Amino acid sequence: MSEINENKNEKLVIGEDVFVPFLTEDVIQNRIKEMAAQISQDYKGKIPIFIGVLNGAFIFLSDLIKNVSIDCEIDFFKLSSYGDSKISSGNVRLLKELNCEVNGRDIIIVEDIVDSGLSIKYIEEIFVKHSPSSMKVCSLLMKPESLKYDVKIDYIGFNIPSKFVIGYGLDYAQKFRNLRTIFSLSE
Ligand code: IMP
Ligand code: MG
Repeated sequence: MSEINENKNEKLVIGEDVFVPFLTEDVIQNRIKEMAAQISQDYKGKIPIFIGVLNGAFIFLSDLIKNVSIDCEIDFFKLSSYGDSKISSGNVRLLKELNCEVNGRDIIIVEDIVDSGLSIKYIEEIFVKHSPSSMKVCSLLMKPESLKYDVKIDYIGFNIPSKFVIGYGLDYAQKFRNLRTIFSLSE
C-alpha cells in the first residue's frame, strides 16, 4: 500500500508522474472566504440552493457554505465524464439526479473545476428545464485556455493554466481528493 506524505513544499511522485504544490491550504481558504462574502452579499434576502457537482465539488462546497452568512440550502448532482484518465472523454453521463425542487428557486451550481465547459453546459441545459428563478455557476478553478463551450462562470476562485491538478476534491483515478493542497502535474 502506498502512503502519501503531504508536505506543503514537497513534490508528490505518483507512478511516473510528478506533481508539485500549486495552491496551498491558506491560499485556497482565503479565496473561499472572499467568494463566500461576495455570494452572501449578492444573495442578501434570498435563500439560494447550492448544488454541488459530485464527486469533486464536495470539499469546496463544504468550506464555501461554512463561510456563507445568509440562509441557504444544499443538494448534489452527479455526473461522470473523465473515467480514470487525465484527459476528458468528452462524454457526460448523469449518475445522480437532484432531490430538491428547483422551480422558482435561486440556484448556484458549484463545481471544483471548469475545463472544457462541457459538464457545466450539460448541467445548465438540464436545470433550465426545471425553471429556476435564477441560475449562477461558482467554480473553485477554471482553465480559460481549455474552454470549448460557451459557458459563463459567475464566481471563479482561480484562473489556472491548462495543467492537470489534483487534491482538495480533485482526483486522479478517484484518488488524492483528500489532499489539502492542490498539486499540479509538472512537465
Ligand atoms: P469539463 O466538462 O471539461 O469542463 O470538465 C469538468 C470536470 O472534469 C470537472 O468537474 C472535474 O471533475 C474534471 N476535471 C477537469 N480538469 C481536471 C483536473 O485537472 N484534475 C481533476 N479533474 C479535472
Ligand atoms: Mg467535477
